[in-house]
Amino acid sequence: MKPVNTRQELVKLYIDFFKSKNHKEIPNSALIPQNDPTVLFTTAGMHPLVPFLLGQKHPLGKRLCNVQKCIRTTDIDEVGDNFHLTFFEMLGNWSLGDYFKNESIEYSFEFLTKTLGVPLDMIAVTCFKGDRDAPVDREASEKWKKLGVKEERIAFLPKEDNWWSPPGTTGPCGPDTEIFFWVGKGKPKGNPEVNPKEWAEIWNNVFMQYEKKKDGSFAELKQKNVDTGMGVERTIATLNSNESVYDTDSLSPLIKKIEKLSGKSYAKETKSMRIIADHIRASVMILAEKKAPSNVEQGYVLRRLIRRAIRHGRLIGVEGKFVKLIGEGVFPIYPDYKHLKENKQFILTELEKEEERFSEVLEKGIKYFDRLKETIKGKVIDGKTAFLLYQSFGFPIEMTQELAKENNLEVNVIEYEEEQAKHREISRTATEGKFKSGLADNSAETTRLHTATHLLLAALRQVIGTDIEQRGSNITAERLRFDFSHDQKLTPEQLKEVEKIVNTNIQKGLEVQRDEMTVDEAKKQGAIGVFDHKYGEKVSVYKVCDPHETVCMEICTGPHVSNTKELGKFKIKKEEASSKGVRRIKAVLE
Ligand code: ALA
Repeated sequence: MKPVNTRQELVKLYIDFFKSKNHKEIPNSALIPQNDPTVLFTTAGMHPLVPFLLGQKHPLGKRLCNVQKCIRTTDIDEVGDNFHLTFFEMLGNWSLGDYFKNESIEYSFEFLTKTLGVPLDMIAVTCFKGDRDAPVDREASEKWKKLGVKEERIAFLPKEDNWWSPPGTTGPCGPDTEIFFWVGKGKPKGNPEVNPKEWAEIWNNVFMQYEKKKDGSFAELKQKNVDTGMGVERTIATLNSNESVYDTDSLSPLIKKIEKLSGKSYAKETKSMRIIADHIRASVMILAEKKAPSNVEQGYVLRRLIRRAIRHGRLIGVEGKFVKLIGEGVFPIYPDYKHLKENKQFILTELEKEEERFSEVLEKGIKYFDRLKETIKGKVIDGKTAFLLYQSFGFPIEMTQELAKENNLEVNVIEYEEEQAKHREISRTATEGKFKSGLADNSAETTRLHTATHLLLAALRQVIGTDIEQRGSNITAERLRFDFSHDQKLTPEQLKEVEKIVNTNIQKGLEVQRDEMTVDEAKKQGAIGVFDHKYGEKVSVYKVCDPHETVCMEICTGPHVSNTKELGKFKIKKEEASSKGVRRIKAVLE
């Protein structure tokens, strides 16, 4: 095998390889998706591509590739083992209705065996086994065999393992073929079904060839896509025969720092040290997108990660503050992430502040818990007590659950949620639900509200001034929420005026046009787009025009309605401060 020791080396090899196969590199998008209410974080490289997987034309063509930063909180309980992480980088290549299984498997095979020089025998694959919905994926398995993969290295598995499902009840889906590296001792043997612990998954090629219909049946899709994902940390670890992802250059500097600070050895405190390294790295990445710890949505996940890291720090005997010190270690690992450097001050200050807040109460909370476990009747911590631990000692419910588990106790989470609802806190279930779903909700309602957001920004710029910029957007099927730069409360007259302008533009029945052009050209034409660092060389520009003038023109991936008359009546429900210098409007379409 060729030595590939660092994340940057692997990323370069991968991108160069797919560029040589006529793929265009797309930018590494933000972790916190804009205009997508169904997920808190980008969980896979395909995520920002949803509109294009559903058929919209991508400005860069049909063959794309990139490296994407991802967060998966669904794996949080597994963090500490050899391969699971909350934050990770994913390499991906996509075919939007272009090549399919044949080339996809060929490319993966060539990259692994030629570019990386992995011996053929160290690779095993899994393919879809077939069931009453779709047949066994012989096309994939035959291709692997043709390339030289032995039959005993191919396993056929059911939907739970080898099928990419639509997040809702309907949508594009299909079988996948997963690629594994041998990580066992001695000579490779068997396959991931027979020897699951000795084969590590590093790459997943999804073949979106069906559409799940409302009645539960599967129809062939017109546009067949390929969506692949390769874990950077896992691949580096397996290529270098490391025991775990924590031995790679993406994490080992943090582990070394933790060892030094705690005076303990990694060999003895493996799990806690891994949790600390993973959680602080993920926290730095979330903070880099200007999200501070809070009790809702991404801010809550961030809080949970930092606080869990602190508790594990105390568990292994770290005294005093340490989160910022470990956090500082993340920056040299990612010299290519400019936004980290740009927000360094904010990131480190917020880490420090959160640690200060939590340190004050953590010790008291642990003492309270210790007393509780001695006196508790039965094995269940009731909802009121769990809520008290949250409210008085800042223990996220997941932390109380973890403490309970360590002491063979349980927590009544339903009761806790009832208690929380009473206190008008965000329901944890609602937050969790968001991590689980994958694809964006491109429903008619969110599409209409998204177009309304553009009209709202245009009206704000007309009424208040053209220095108004978008600072955030969150759309659910019921309402839009739009944050913008402004440091004063809007007067009732201003709000009325904004509402009137939006409604006039709706009533005029204006067409929403989409164009493709370079970022420079878009800017020259007067398009606005706050998040331009994420865009590739060619972008989609949405324009709403009346016969005399352009109402609005924004760089945006969509989706949008085709005519403003589809929007109905626009109504502002609330205007308030969001943070310093940022106002927030909530509005609906009636
Ligand atoms: N989207 C696929 C995955 O995340 C490739 O595994």
